[in-house]
This record gives sequence, C-alpha cells and structure tokens, in this order.
Amino acid sequence: MIDQAGTYSFAGRDAKRLGYGAMQLAGPGVFGPPRDHDAALAVLRAAVKAGVNHIDTSDFYGPHVTNRLIREALAPYPQDLLIVTKIGARRGDDASWLPAFEADELARAVDDNLKNLGLEALDVVNLRLMFDVHGPAEGSLATPLKAVADLQRQGLVRHIGLSNVTPTQVEEARGIAEIVCVQNQYNLAHRDDDAFIDALAAEGVAYVPFFPLGGFSPLQSATLSGVAARLEATPMQVALAWLLQRSPNILLIPGTSSVAHLHENLAAASLTLPEDAVAQLDAIGG
Ligand SMILES: NC(=O)c1ccc[n+]([C@@H]2O[C@H](COP(=O)([O-])OP(=O)(O)OC[C@H]3O[C@@H](n4cnc5c(N)ncnc54)[C@H](OP(=O)(O)O)[C@@H]3O)[C@@H](O)[C@H]2O)c1
Repeated sequence: MIDQAGTYSFAGRDAKRLGYGAMQLAGPGVFGPPRDHDAALAVLRAAVKAGVNHIDTSDFYGPHVTNRLIREALAPYPQDLLIVTKIGARRGDDASWLPAFEADELARAVDDNLKNLGLEALDVVNLRLMFDVHGPAEGSLATPLKAVADLQRQGLVRHIGLSNVTPTQVEEARGIAEIVCVQNQYNLAHRDDDAFIDALAAEGVAYVPFFPLGGFSPLQSATLSGVAARLEATPMQVALAWLLQRSPNILLIPGTSSVAHLHENLAAASLTLPEDAVAQLDAIGG
C-alpha cells in the first residue's frame, strides 16, 4: 500500500516517501519510558511490516528510550531499513532540551546512538541546530559540523543531514561536508520553508518535515476537515497527502504511538488530492 507514494533516492537508498517518526514512543514530554512498552514495540513492528523503510529517531528521545525500543523491536534490522538519527542536544534532569555542540558531546551522542541502536555505523545523522530551539536562526555551524565530519571520516557516520536550519547555513555546510537531507518544521499551516523546499528539490536534497501533522497539537482546520469529508478520508491523511503532492523531495515521518493511527497515516499513500482540494488546502497556510 505505501509503495503507491513512491520512493526518493536518499543517502544511497531508495527511501519510501512514507516513513515513521519514533519520537512519540517515549514517555510524556518525550521523557522517560513509554506508558505501554509492548504497545510501543508493536507500533515499530507494524510500521516495518507495512513496508516502512525509513525511521527517524534520536538518542535524546527519552533519553535513550526510543533507540532502545527500536533495537528491541527490530534488530536484526531489515537490510533496506534506513534509520536516521539526530544530535546536538541533551536532556536535563528536568526534561529540558539543552544544546550539546562541543566536539566531545557530539562524539558521545554518536556513540550513544550506536550503542542503543546496536549499530556499527549510523546511516544518517542530522546535526540539529539550537541557535533558537523553536525555529531556524542564523549563526555559523562550522565548528560542530567539522566535528561531525571527523566522525564521518572515522566511519561512524555514513551521511550527514541538518535540522532546524536556514538556507544560508546549508550553503555554509556544503563547504565542509555533503548534506543529504534537511529536517525542519513544515506542514499545511506552517509554510516558512516553501522556497527552501523548492531550492532543495532542484538540488536533489531530501526535505523531511518534522511536525507533519502539527506535532504535539495535531492540525485542526475547518477547511482541512471539509476537504477530508468530501474525499472520504481523515484530516491527517489529507495533511500527509498534501505534503506528498507538495514536492517530490519531501519524505514523511509522521509520529504516532498507536497502531491504528499508524495504519491510518500510511494509507495516505494511496490518496490523490484533486486540484481544487489542493487550492483550498494551500490557502490554509497562505
Ligand atoms: N528535528 C527536529 O527538531 C524534530 C522535532 C520534532 C520531531 N521530529 C521528528 O519528526 C517526527 C514527527 O513529528 P511528531 O511525531 O512530533 O509530530 P507529528 O507527526 O506532526 O504528529 C504527532 C502527533 O499526532 C498524533 N497523531 C498521529 N497520527 C494521528 C492520526 N492519524 N489521528 C490523530 N492524531 C494522530 C500523535 O498522537 P498519537 O500518538 O495518539 O497518535 C501525536 O500527538 C518525530 O517522530 C521525530 O522523529 C524532529
């Protein structure tokens, strides 16, 4: 079913455009263990069984929790599974998100990801910038990116991506390392990256929107609900189908802790939005 959404060549693989984001599997506030350990394992296994071959994670989800769940549920991993992780933050004891960009912190983060995922090399590591924790903000990434490039040279990281970044930072990064993907916040209602996505598409770089469904407060809009009702789909399926149709370099990683929501979301692969529906939906974020 998810094959209908096609693939995008990314990090040397053909990633299916409908993937899965594992952040929601940790406890409340992405901190501590899940409420239901077995249910979390079931979501991961159901995703892979349904054909998902791209999972997004980080060792700072939990911390350590999400990666250990992935390993428990899925190792030994299917050969085509692309696990994308991110570094650049650590968690305080109070669940806060703290910057962690010193070379030794980045090396430790890669090591933690390797250990907890049970891997010898990480497929893709996104360096997640924190000049402003809530959105991209200018500032040089040279020093931390050079540290990640060193880890790549050591063979611990296969491909490098960036998260929470501006186009200027991607340009700066290209002088240091090849950048295979950008992961920023983007969805129907949050469209700051429209021009950025088009530019990355022209350059063959994957764009992986985080919060594709709106994040901790999923999208709510009368227009979205109206289009969904007309197409006999759910609002979340329409939101995902809109992203799939928005640009071919967009890869989806919707998050959920529920097998029912997972199947609902993956079914968006077979939903085609007619032109008038796209125009109505475009107006939500316009
Ligand atoms: N780079 C970054 O800075 C960054 C930041 C945030 C997230 N991420 C990545 O992006 C991924 C996706 O983001 P996200 O999970 O935070 O947000 P999201 O995918 O936009 O939305 C997840 C939320 O939507 C709910 N949901 C999912 N499917 C649903 C459905 N069919 N019907 C109703 N509600 C539904 C989930 O609740 P239920 O569990 O109840 O389904 C959850 O509350 C994450 O898993 C993570 O890997 C990256």
